Amino acid sequence: MKLTYFGHSACLVETGHYKLLIDPFLKDNPLCDVDPKDVKCDYILLTHGHMDHVGDTVEIAQRNDAVVIANFELASWLEKQGLAKVHPLHIGGGASFPFGRAQLTIAFHGSSIPGEDGLPIYMGQPGGVLITSMGKTLYHAGDTALTLEFELLARRHPIDLALLPIGDNFTMGIDDALAALDMLKPKHVVPIHYNTFPYIEVDPRLFAEGARQKDIEPHVLACGDTVEI
Ligand code: NI
Ligand code: MN
Repeated sequence: MKLTYFGHSACLVETGHYKLLIDPFLKDNPLCDVDPKDVKCDYILLTHGHMDHVGDTVEIAQRNDAVVIANFELASWLEKQGLAKVHPLHIGGGASFPFGRAQLTIAFHGSSIPGEDGLPIYMGQPGGVLITSMGKTLYHAGDTALTLEFELLARRHPIDLALLPIGDNFTMGIDDALAALDMLKPKHVVPIHYNTFPYIEVDPRLFAEGARQKDIEPHVLACGDTVEI
């Protein structure tokens, strides 16, 4: 399983013959120099409805004829945007796909998009995604607070690679993300959702140092960097 980071919470997971894109916020992402037109994928997985996660989903899904996996409300909204291939899931539910299994996990956050009148439209409960493929388990936490739910997740699924938000303000900050590691106990961790905007500026090296002290291998990635597990 190979992960390529695109900045913020966006990444591409290559497993077997399949390319899975998660939270493809590319065009308006100041940390990303990848053009959505150049991205190839078979599936797009979304953690929640905020635009810094949905990003360029519609455009990329249409060009690639990709299946979009998202919570029911968000999947229904994407269908209305013209996407023919969506697979709705909801929190705690998973399904088998040709690449393996994808499950939506609990996250504590919000999930909405701005409507035409400027008021938010509800986009279902936010989640994380747990992907099991080719004998490896990847956990993308989405946007979330620190929660004891991590303990239950790790008890049921040994995690090879976790992607955790560390930017504070909207999600866990570094201290809480380090506490999350004590529960999740992944082999590898990639910090996400930081330094994209002024609200979420932190020093990822502090997180990496803390992770190393817990014998968890941190990977602080720039756009285009990869990790193989
Ligand atoms: Ni969010
Ligand atoms: Mn976000």
